[in-house]
Amino acid sequence: MKRLLVTGGAGFIGSEFVRQGVRKGYGIILADSLTYAGDLLRIKEFEKEISFHKISVTDRDAVEKLFIAEKPDAVVHWAAESHVDRSIMDAGPFIDSNVKGTSIMLDAARRHGVECFVNVSTDEVYGDLDESGSFFETTPLNPSSPYSVSKASADMLGRAFHRTYGLPVITVRPSNNYGQWQYPEKLIPVVVVKALRNESVPVYAQGLNVREWLCVSDCADAVFRILEKGKAGDVYNIGSGEERKNIEVVKEILKILGKPEDLIKFTKDRPGHDFRYSLNSGKLRKELSWSPSTDFGSGLNNTVEWFLSNINWVNAKIAALQEYWSKAYS
Ligand code: TYD
Repeated sequence: MKRLLVTGGAGFIGSEFVRQGVRKGYGIILADSLTYAGDLLRIKEFEKEISFHKISVTDRDAVEKLFIAEKPDAVVHWAAESHVDRSIMDAGPFIDSNVKGTSIMLDAARRHGVECFVNVSTDEVYGDLDESGSFFETTPLNPSSPYSVSKASADMLGRAFHRTYGLPVITVRPSNNYGQWQYPEKLIPVVVVKALRNESVPVYAQGLNVREWLCVSDCADAVFRILEKGKAGDVYNIGSGEERKNIEVVKEILKILGKPEDLIKFTKDRPGHDFRYSLNSGKLRKELSWSPSTDFGSGLNNTVEWFLSNINWVNAKIAALQEYWSKAYS
C-alpha cells in the first residue's frame, strides 16, 4: 500500500496526515478543492513530494480522471465541510461535499479497486450524552446537527459499499481535534485569536458542554495505525480520554496568554447544541495497541505557542474571518 489518495489533504487534519505520510515514505496524491478552510501552506514543506490535484470530490468526472491518472492503492477520505455552526446557517454545502462527495469517492474506489478506503467520520454521529457513559463503535447513530447528519450519511454509505460490493472500507470516528493550522472558526483557535486581539471571547450558554480533545498529530497517527493494521468493514473510535468543559478550556487558554477572564462573553446557545461527547476507544487501544502521546495540557500549550509564532497566517485570513464571525456571533 504505497500510493495513498488523500482527499481534503489541504485541510486542518488532512494536512497533518499528509505531512506524516510523506515522512513515512508513502506516495501522496492530494485531492482538495481549496475551499475557505483549505490551504496549501499547510503542506508547503512537502510540495515537491506531493502530487496535488485541485479537484472537488463532488466532481464525478474529475475524480474518475484522477483515479485513471494516479492509480492509488488506497484512499483516505478526509474531505468534508466540518463546522457545525456553518451547517446550521446552510446545510446545502454539507450535503454536497459530505454525502454526494463521499458517494462519488466510494464509487470510484469500487470501480478502480483499492486495497483500503478509510472513511473519516466523527464522534458526532452518535449524538450526545449526559454526564455519564461513553460511545462504543456499536452505539446506534443518532446525529443532531445538519453537519453530523451529513457525516452519519457518509458513514452509512461506507458501510453499504462494504456490505454490498465488498469494498474494503474502514470507518474511523475521531473526537474533537485541536492543534496547529486549525482554521479559526472552531472553539480553540477562535479563543486564541480573539483573545490575542483583545476582542470578546464567545462562549455558548454557560460553557458547560463537554468535548473530548484529541491532538491532531495523535489523530493522524491513529489513522495510519488503522490503515496499516485495521480490519476491513470495521469501525474504530479515536479518542484521547481528555474530556473538558468548554469553559475550562477557555479559561486555560486565557491563562496561557495572560489575558483577563472578563474577555469571556456568554452568548446565546447553539441551536440543538450537543451536550457531551465521550468515546470508548478500547478497541483501537487493545486490538491495534494504539494510545495517544500528547496530554491535553502540553498539547494546548504547544497549540497556543504555534498560533503566537504563526499569527501572520491568521492575519492573512482576517477579512474572511471577520465576515464569518460577524454572522456567527451576531
Ligand atoms: P466546535 O469547535 O465548533 O466543535 P464541535 O461543535 O464540533 O464540537 O465547538 C466546540 C464546543 O465549543 C461546542 O460545545 C461549541 C462551543 N463553542 C463556543 O462556546 N464558542 C464558540 O465560539 C465556538 C466556535 C464553539
